[in-house]
Amino acid sequence: MTDKKAYLSIDGLDEKIELKISSGTIGPDVIDVSPLSANGYFTYDPGFVSTAACESGITYIDGGKGVLLHRGYPIEQLADKSDYLELCYLLFYGKLPTAEEKAEYVETIQRHTMVHEQVSHFFNGFRRDAHPMAIMCGVVGAMASFYHENTDLTCPEDRATTAARLVAKIPTLAAMCYKYSKGQPFVFPNNDLDYASNFLNMMFSTPCSDYEVNPVFAKAMDRIFMLHADHEQNASTSTVRLAGSSGANPYACIAAGITALWGPAHGGANEACLNMLEEIGDESRVDEFVARAKDKNDPFRLMGFGHRVYKNRDPRATVMQKTCDEVLAQLGRSDDPLFKVARKLEKAALEDEYFIEKKLYPNVDFYSGIVLRALGIPTSMFTVIFAVSRTIGWISHWNEMVSEPHRIGRPRQLYTGSAERDLP
Ligand code: ACO
Repeated sequence: MTDKKAYLSIDGLDEKIELKISSGTIGPDVIDVSPLSANGYFTYDPGFVSTAACESGITYIDGGKGVLLHRGYPIEQLADKSDYLELCYLLFYGKLPTAEEKAEYVETIQRHTMVHEQVSHFFNGFRRDAHPMAIMCGVVGAMASFYHENTDLTCPEDRATTAARLVAKIPTLAAMCYKYSKGQPFVFPNNDLDYASNFLNMMFSTPCSDYEVNPVFAKAMDRIFMLHADHEQNASTSTVRLAGSSGANPYACIAAGITALWGPAHGGANEACLNMLEEIGDESRVDEFVARAKDKNDPFRLMGFGHRVYKNRDPRATVMQKTCDEVLAQLGRSDDPLFKVARKLEKAALEDEYFIEKKLYPNVDFYSGIVLRALGIPTSMFTVIFAVSRTIGWISHWNEMVSEPHRIGRPRQLYTGSAERDLP
């Protein structure tokens, strides 16, 4: 809290309403509007563009400058010097692990990678052609029924066990979704492999052919997990917090987050972006699609462009572009036609007055789809992989919220329906 105050004068009110102003460690000051309801007013902020719903010490974004910090560390440094499980530890526990803590954490995650055998029967109820995100919503929600012990919300150890179970089992469930859609047998986790390699192995090995994990691919997969791990109060994280604020089972809360993530304006963007690049198909058609994106009468938007918070280049997009270069070079596919379309599209948009004026820059999903496709991952699995990565962000925010006294989340509304009336 600062000494600064804001005063709100409202027509018809004799006295100004005094509002306290809080300062975070960095970032804009925040006006505490909670006294307004006692005066019979609410604030109106569709899409929460100007509203902070909580205090948080996990992730900081400066959208104007293109900065993303996890527990204070820049994402570029983390992507360069750390790995996904270390980032998971950092996000959840708030500090980088020592070598011993890291080894212990990795072992804990490995110990939890298998899912209850009955979970595999659960899959049989789904259609083979179901979207894997639909299956993920179901099976992750079902974890609430399989792992209901150790969910005392007031117990830090129980919360850590829940987080470890989720981080460990979500890749197993994600790979099971893929195998189910292919009609192939599920592949058990292999605890001799690192997190990313294990995921690729569960996706691509079969009982009749081993899959040799390419280290460049494993590194790229680990980067993708890292770059999507957390992004403060986005739609899915806010959903997890809102669901969790009622004291709901944490696995069910994560299933709610997966649901919110699915849409093309959020986690579905990388799938939508790749579909768009495929639709464009050739560099010669880039201008046509840029023109469509600018046309007010055409609902088409350039997928992978724009962000609610970043009004500058998404720092994750820079790292992802580098990873994309590495993977395509390793595959000898630097002249990949979709990559060429992406490069030309990026250049055309960045030089275009419409995109400059609206501060629309490529976001992380602009390049992640090309990388995932190069790794052999089908488009329908892209958002599932985002969900795997983001699980640690969701559960860290949930943990932060439930470990402190908190109120149930309950937004208010501007009612525009009928006034009270009698039935005829
Ligand atoms: N292509 C063309 N125009 C766009 C785009 C785009 N990708 N994004 C925004 N605009 C335009 C809008 O038409 C609007 O124009 P107007 O002011 O003339 O009406 C203006 O820019 C502001 O757009 P909003 O939708 O109001 O911005 P908001 O912050 O609500 O939305 C969002 C952000 C949803 C990400 C949006 O930019 C978008 O739809 N992008 C494409 C989808 C995408 O890539 N999503 C991934 C987000 S990152 C993530 O989840 C990891």
